[in-house]
Amino acid sequence: MSTALPLRLGVNVDHIATLRNARGGTRPDPVRAALLAIEAGADGITAHLREDRRHIRDADMARLKAEISKPLNFEMAATADMMTISLATKPHAVCLVPERREELTTEGGLDVVGQHNALAPFIARLNDAGIRVSLFIAADPAQIEMAARLRAPVIEIHTGAWCDAVGDGLLGKAESEWQRIVAGAALARAAGLEVHAGHGLDYATAERIAALPEIAELNIGYYMVGEALFVGLAETVRTMRAAMDRGRGKAAGNG
Ligand code: PXP
Repeated sequence: MSTALPLRLGVNVDHIATLRNARGGTRPDPVRAALLAIEAGADGITAHLREDRRHIRDADMARLKAEISKPLNFEMAATADMMTISLATKPHAVCLVPERREELTTEGGLDVVGQHNALAPFIARLNDAGIRVSLFIAADPAQIEMAARLRAPVIEIHTGAWCDAVGDGLLGKAESEWQRIVAGAALARAAGLEVHAGHGLDYATAERIAALPEIAELNIGYYMVGEALFVGLAETVRTMRAAMDRGRGKAAGNG
C-alpha cells in the first residue's frame, strides 16, 4: 500500500482582517499574522478577496504576495475583476469559490456542473498563466467529475456541512457527510485531482480528516483565529499541526 501524501496546513488570515476592519485602522495586520503563522509551521497562507472587501483588501493581497515566503492561495469568485487582480498578483494558487447564491450547489460548494461553460475559459486562462487552480466544491461525484473534465488540477472539498453536523451533535448527519467526504476524496484522487479540504475545521475534525490519505492540504481560518485570542497564533498553529500529524499517522499506508 502506498504511503499517504504529505499534508500541508494553509492558514487563512481573513478574520484577522475582519477584526482590523471593525475599527477601520491598520491593526491587527493580516500580513503580520501570516508571517507569524509561517514561522510557527504553516505551509501556506490563504486569503479571500471578496467582492465587497469585507475582510481582505486589494492592498493586503499585494502585500501578502510580496512579503510571505510560502505559497499564497488566493480565494476568489470567478469574475472578470478578480481575474485581472489575480493575474497581476501572480499567487501560487487560485481557489475559485462561490460568491452569489446562484453559484452555489445545495451543499454550499461552487456549482461547477451548472457553470461549466463560464468556468472552462476562466480555468484555462489561469492554467496558462501558471497559477494552480483549485475548485471549492461539495464532495459530490458529479461536481468532482466535472472538475476533472474542466482540467482544474486541484479540488478543495467543502467540509462545512460535516463540521456543522459534528458541532451540532447530529450523529447520523455527521456520519453521512463524513462518508460523502471519504468517497469524494477517493474518487477525486482516482480522477487524477489533488485533493484539499476546508471550511469549519477545528482541532478534532482536522485530526479526523487528516487520516484520509488522499488529502494533501487543509485550509483553516476561523477556528484558529478564535483560538489565537486565548493562546496566541503561534501556539494555535503548532497545536493544529500536531493534530494533523496525529491524524495522518492513522492514514492507511502509514501503519
Ligand atoms: N477553504 C475555503 C475555500 C474557504 O472559502 C474558507 C473560508 O473562507 C476556508 C477554507 C476556511 O474556512 P474556516 O475559516 O471556516 O476555517
